[in-house]
Amino acid sequence: MGAPGRAALEARLGELRAELDIGACVVNGENAADGVGITPRLADRLLAVGADAVTLGNHAFRRTEIGDYLQASDRVIRPANTSSTTPGRGLAVVPTSNGGWLAVVNVLGSLFLHPAISMFEVIDELVATARAETPLVLVDVHAEATSEKIALARWLDGRVTAVVGTHTHVQTSDAHVLPGGTAFITDAGMTGPHDSVIGVESDLAIRRMRTGMPVRFATAQGGVRIEGAVIECDAESGLASSISPLRVPFP
Ligand SMILES: [Fe+2]
Repeated sequence: MGAPGRAALEARLGELRAELDIGACVVNGENAADGVGITPRLADRLLAVGADAVTLGNHAFRRTEIGDYLQASDRVIRPANTSSTTPGRGLAVVPTSNGGWLAVVNVLGSLFLHPAISMFEVIDELVATARAETPLVLVDVHAEATSEKIALARWLDGRVTAVVGTHTHVQTSDAHVLPGGTAFITDAGMTGPHDSVIGVESDLAIRRMRTGMPVRFATAQGGVRIEGAVIECDAESGLASSISPLRVPFP
Protein backbone atom coordinates (compact mmCIF):
# COMPACT_ATOMS: atom_id res chain seq x y z
CA MET A 1 0.00 0.00 0.00
CA GLY A 2 1.57 3.21 -1.27
CA ALA A 3 5.01 4.54 -0.44
CA PRO A 4 5.07 3.18 3.18
CA GLY A 5 4.35 -0.36 1.97
CA ARG A 6 6.90 -0.10 -0.81
CA ALA A 7 9.54 1.24 1.57
CA ALA A 8 8.96 -1.71 3.93
CA LEU A 9 9.37 -4.23 1.12
CA GLU A 10 12.42 -2.49 -0.30
CA ALA A 11 14.08 -2.56 3.11
CA ARG A 12 13.05 -5.99 4.36
CA LEU A 13 11.82 -8.37 1.65
CA GLY A 14 15.26 -9.61 0.66
CA GLU A 15 16.26 -10.51 4.21
CA LEU A 16 12.85 -11.96 5.03
CA ARG A 17 13.20 -14.26 2.04
CA ALA A 18 16.54 -15.45 3.34
CA GLU A 19 15.42 -15.77 7.00
CA LEU A 20 12.32 -17.78 6.10
CA ASP A 21 13.99 -19.74 3.27
CA ILE A 22 11.38 -18.63 0.75
CA GLY A 23 11.47 -20.39 -2.61
CA ALA A 24 9.10 -18.03 -4.38
CA CYS A 25 7.39 -14.81 -3.36
CA VAL A 26 4.19 -13.30 -4.74
CA VAL A 27 3.20 -9.71 -3.98
CA ASN A 28 -0.22 -8.21 -4.60
CA GLY A 29 0.68 -4.79 -6.00
CA GLU A 30 -2.64 -3.21 -6.88
CA ASN A 31 -2.26 -0.43 -4.30
CA ALA A 32 1.42 0.24 -4.90
CA ALA A 33 0.97 3.59 -6.63
CA ASP A 34 -0.13 5.94 -3.84
CA GLY A 35 -2.90 3.55 -2.78
CA VAL A 36 -4.53 2.83 -6.14
CA GLY A 37 -3.10 0.99 -9.10
CA ILE A 38 0.47 0.34 -10.16
CA THR A 39 2.84 1.89 -12.67
CA PRO A 40 5.41 0.06 -14.84
CA ARG A 41 8.23 1.57 -12.76
CA LEU A 42 6.73 0.38 -9.47
CA ALA A 43 6.00 -3.09 -10.86
CA ASP A 44 9.63 -3.38 -11.93
CA ARG A 45 10.68 -2.16 -8.49
CA LEU A 46 8.65 -4.88 -6.69
CA LEU A 47 10.22 -7.51 -8.92
CA ALA A 48 13.68 -6.06 -8.24
CA VAL A 49 13.34 -6.16 -4.45
CA GLY A 50 12.26 -9.79 -4.21
CA ALA A 51 8.85 -10.52 -5.75
CA ASP A 52 8.88 -13.35 -8.30
CA ALA A 53 5.40 -12.44 -9.47
CA VAL A 54 3.03 -9.53 -8.88
CA THR A 55 -0.75 -9.91 -8.83
CA LEU A 56 -3.31 -7.13 -9.10
CA GLY A 57 -7.05 -6.67 -8.51
CA ASN A 58 -9.96 -4.32 -9.01
CA HIS A 59 -7.59 -1.33 -9.26
CA ALA A 60 -5.35 -3.01 -11.86
CA PHE A 61 -5.97 -0.40 -14.56
CA ARG A 62 -6.25 2.78 -12.49
CA ARG A 63 -2.94 3.91 -14.08
CA THR A 64 -3.54 3.79 -17.81
CA GLU A 65 0.14 3.30 -18.65
CA ILE A 66 0.07 -0.18 -17.13
CA GLY A 67 -1.89 -1.74 -20.03
CA ASP A 68 0.99 -2.07 -22.47
CA TYR A 69 3.28 -3.21 -19.66
CA LEU A 70 0.89 -6.01 -18.64
CA GLN A 71 0.52 -7.08 -22.25
CA ALA A 72 4.29 -7.61 -22.41
CA SER A 73 4.92 -8.93 -18.88
CA ASP A 74 5.19 -12.61 -17.97
CA ARG A 75 5.44 -11.89 -14.20
CA VAL A 76 2.92 -9.16 -13.50
CA ILE A 77 -0.65 -10.38 -13.92
CA ARG A 78 -4.16 -8.95 -13.58
CA PRO A 79 -7.36 -10.84 -12.70
CA ALA A 80 -8.14 -13.51 -15.28
CA ASN A 81 -11.90 -13.01 -15.28
CA THR A 82 -11.85 -9.67 -17.07
CA SER A 83 -13.24 -9.04 -20.56
CA SER A 84 -11.55 -10.69 -23.55
CA THR A 85 -10.24 -7.27 -24.68
CA THR A 86 -8.35 -6.53 -21.44
CA PRO A 87 -4.55 -6.30 -21.84
CA GLY A 88 -2.34 -8.75 -20.00
CA ARG A 89 -2.95 -12.22 -18.58
CA GLY A 90 -4.20 -13.86 -15.42
CA LEU A 91 -1.64 -16.66 -15.15
CA ALA A 92 2.14 -16.54 -14.73
CA VAL A 93 4.61 -19.40 -14.33
CA VAL A 94 7.80 -18.32 -12.57
CA PRO A 95 10.93 -20.20 -11.51
CA THR A 96 11.49 -20.97 -7.82
CA SER A 97 14.86 -20.71 -6.07
CA ASN A 98 15.12 -24.50 -5.73
CA GLY A 99 14.81 -25.25 -9.42
CA GLY A 100 11.04 -25.72 -9.69
CA TRP A 101 8.24 -23.63 -11.12
CA LEU A 102 5.35 -21.85 -9.45
CA ALA A 103 2.17 -21.05 -11.34
CA VAL A 104 0.36 -17.96 -10.09
CA VAL A 105 -3.30 -17.30 -10.87
CA ASN A 106 -5.17 -14.07 -10.10
CA VAL A 107 -8.97 -13.89 -10.03
CA LEU A 108 -11.52 -11.30 -8.91
CA GLY A 109 -14.55 -11.99 -6.72
CA SER A 110 -17.99 -10.66 -7.61
CA LEU A 111 -19.29 -8.75 -4.56
CA PHE A 112 -18.77 -4.98 -5.12
CA LEU A 113 -16.08 -5.66 -7.76
CA HIS A 114 -18.16 -6.52 -10.83
CA PRO A 115 -15.80 -8.66 -12.94
CA ALA A 116 -16.78 -9.28 -16.56
CA ILE A 117 -17.38 -12.94 -15.75
CA SER A 118 -17.52 -14.97 -12.55
CA MET A 119 -14.20 -16.38 -11.36
CA PHE A 120 -15.92 -19.76 -11.15
CA GLU A 121 -16.41 -19.67 -14.95
CA VAL A 122 -12.66 -19.48 -15.61
CA ILE A 123 -10.91 -21.11 -12.67
CA ASP A 124 -11.05 -24.77 -13.73
CA GLU A 125 -9.42 -24.12 -17.08
CA LEU A 126 -6.82 -21.82 -15.52
CA VAL A 127 -5.90 -24.43 -12.92
CA ALA A 128 -5.71 -27.16 -15.56
CA THR A 129 -3.40 -24.97 -17.68
CA ALA A 130 -1.25 -24.20 -14.63
CA ARG A 131 -1.03 -27.83 -13.54
CA ALA A 132 0.07 -28.88 -17.00
CA GLU A 133 3.18 -26.76 -16.29
CA THR A 134 3.86 -27.45 -12.61
CA PRO A 135 2.26 -29.03 -9.52
CA LEU A 136 2.87 -25.79 -7.54
CA VAL A 137 -0.07 -23.46 -8.05
CA LEU A 138 -0.94 -20.35 -6.01
CA VAL A 139 -4.29 -18.63 -6.51
CA ASP A 140 -4.65 -15.00 -5.40
CA VAL A 141 -8.39 -14.52 -4.96
CA HIS A 142 -8.92 -10.78 -4.83
CA ALA A 143 -12.37 -10.39 -3.31
CA GLU A 144 -14.46 -8.52 -0.78
CA ALA A 145 -16.63 -11.38 0.48
CA THR A 146 -15.13 -13.91 2.85
CA SER A 147 -17.71 -16.45 1.63
CA GLU A 148 -16.56 -16.22 -2.00
CA LYS A 149 -12.92 -16.76 -1.01
CA ILE A 150 -13.73 -19.75 1.22
CA ALA A 151 -15.96 -21.25 -1.48
CA LEU A 152 -13.22 -20.93 -4.11
CA ALA A 153 -10.65 -22.50 -1.79
CA ARG A 154 -12.92 -25.44 -1.02
CA TRP A 155 -13.75 -25.86 -4.72
CA LEU A 156 -10.02 -26.03 -5.50
CA ASP A 157 -9.01 -28.10 -2.46
CA GLY A 158 -6.55 -30.78 -3.53
CA ARG A 159 -6.01 -29.21 -6.97
CA VAL A 160 -3.82 -26.23 -6.02
CA THR A 161 -1.10 -25.55 -3.46
CA ALA A 162 -2.70 -22.48 -1.97
CA VAL A 163 -5.59 -20.07 -2.22
CA VAL A 164 -4.67 -16.72 -0.68
CA GLY A 165 -7.20 -13.93 -0.35
CA THR A 166 -6.39 -10.26 -0.89
CA HIS A 167 -8.26 -6.93 -1.20
CA THR A 168 -9.70 -6.21 2.25
CA HIS A 169 -6.31 -5.13 3.71
CA VAL A 170 -7.26 -6.87 6.97
CA GLN A 171 -5.43 -10.09 7.80
CA THR A 172 -7.79 -12.87 8.86
CA SER A 173 -7.09 -15.43 11.59
CA ASP A 174 -8.19 -18.50 9.64
CA ALA A 175 -4.97 -19.72 7.97
CA HIS A 176 -5.19 -23.50 7.66
CA VAL A 177 -4.62 -26.40 5.31
CA LEU A 178 -7.88 -27.80 3.92
CA PRO A 179 -8.55 -31.56 4.02
CA GLY A 180 -7.35 -32.12 0.44
CA GLY A 181 -4.01 -30.34 1.01
CA THR A 182 -4.68 -26.79 -0.20
CA ALA A 183 -3.41 -24.01 2.09
CA PHE A 184 -5.85 -21.17 2.61
CA ILE A 185 -6.20 -17.79 4.28
CA THR A 186 -9.21 -15.57 3.66
CA ASP A 187 -7.06 -12.44 3.55
CA ALA A 188 -3.28 -12.11 3.77
CA GLY A 189 -3.62 -8.54 5.05
CA MET A 190 -1.81 -5.36 4.05
CA THR A 191 1.81 -4.38 3.75
CA GLY A 192 1.42 -0.73 4.59
CA PRO A 193 0.32 1.75 7.27
CA HIS A 194 -2.12 0.24 9.78
CA ASP A 195 -2.74 3.47 11.74
CA SER A 196 -5.36 4.18 9.10
CA VAL A 197 -8.64 3.08 7.55
CA ILE A 198 -7.31 0.23 5.40
CA GLY A 199 -4.28 2.31 4.45
CA VAL A 200 -5.96 5.72 4.01
CA GLU A 201 -5.50 8.62 6.45
CA SER A 202 -8.26 7.99 8.98
CA ASP A 203 -9.53 11.62 9.09
CA LEU A 204 -10.05 11.64 5.33
CA ALA A 205 -11.84 8.28 5.19
CA ILE A 206 -14.06 9.24 8.14
CA ARG A 207 -14.87 12.64 6.61
CA ARG A 208 -15.98 11.03 3.36
CA MET A 209 -18.15 8.53 5.20
CA ARG A 210 -19.66 11.09 7.59
CA THR A 211 -20.43 13.74 4.99
CA GLY A 212 -21.01 11.69 1.84
CA MET A 213 -18.97 14.36 0.02
CA PRO A 214 -15.97 13.64 -2.22
CA VAL A 215 -12.69 13.74 -0.28
CA ARG A 216 -9.29 13.26 -1.87
CA PHE A 217 -7.67 10.32 -0.12
CA ALA A 218 -4.05 10.22 1.02
CA THR A 219 -2.05 7.21 2.10
CA ALA A 220 -1.45 7.10 5.87
CA GLN A 221 2.07 6.79 7.30
CA GLY A 222 2.00 5.17 10.75
CA GLY A 223 1.95 1.63 12.05
CA VAL A 224 3.59 0.05 9.02
CA ARG A 225 3.67 -3.73 8.87
CA ILE A 226 4.62 -6.30 6.27
CA GLU A 227 1.77 -8.79 6.16
CA GLY A 228 1.29 -11.94 4.16
CA ALA A 229 1.42 -15.70 4.55
CA VAL A 230 4.16 -18.30 4.39
CA ILE A 231 3.21 -21.63 2.85
CA GLU A 232 5.19 -24.85 3.08
CA CYS A 233 4.50 -27.44 0.44
CA ASP A 234 5.74 -30.61 -1.21
CA ALA A 235 7.48 -29.95 -4.52
CA GLU A 236 6.35 -33.27 -6.04
CA SER A 237 2.66 -33.30 -5.15
CA GLY A 238 2.26 -29.54 -4.94
CA LEU A 239 0.17 -29.98 -1.78
CA ALA A 240 0.69 -27.81 1.29
CA SER A 241 1.78 -28.97 4.74
CA SER A 242 1.39 -25.64 6.54
CA ILE A 243 0.40 -22.01 6.20
CA SER A 244 1.38 -19.32 8.69
CA PRO A 245 0.27 -15.71 8.64
CA LEU A 246 3.17 -13.25 8.41
CA ARG A 247 3.04 -10.02 10.42
CA VAL A 248 6.28 -8.06 10.66
CA PRO A 249 6.42 -4.53 12.11
CA PHE A 250 8.45 -1.98 10.15
CA PRO A 251 10.88 -0.53 10.88
FE1 LIG B 1 -8.62 -4.41 -4.26
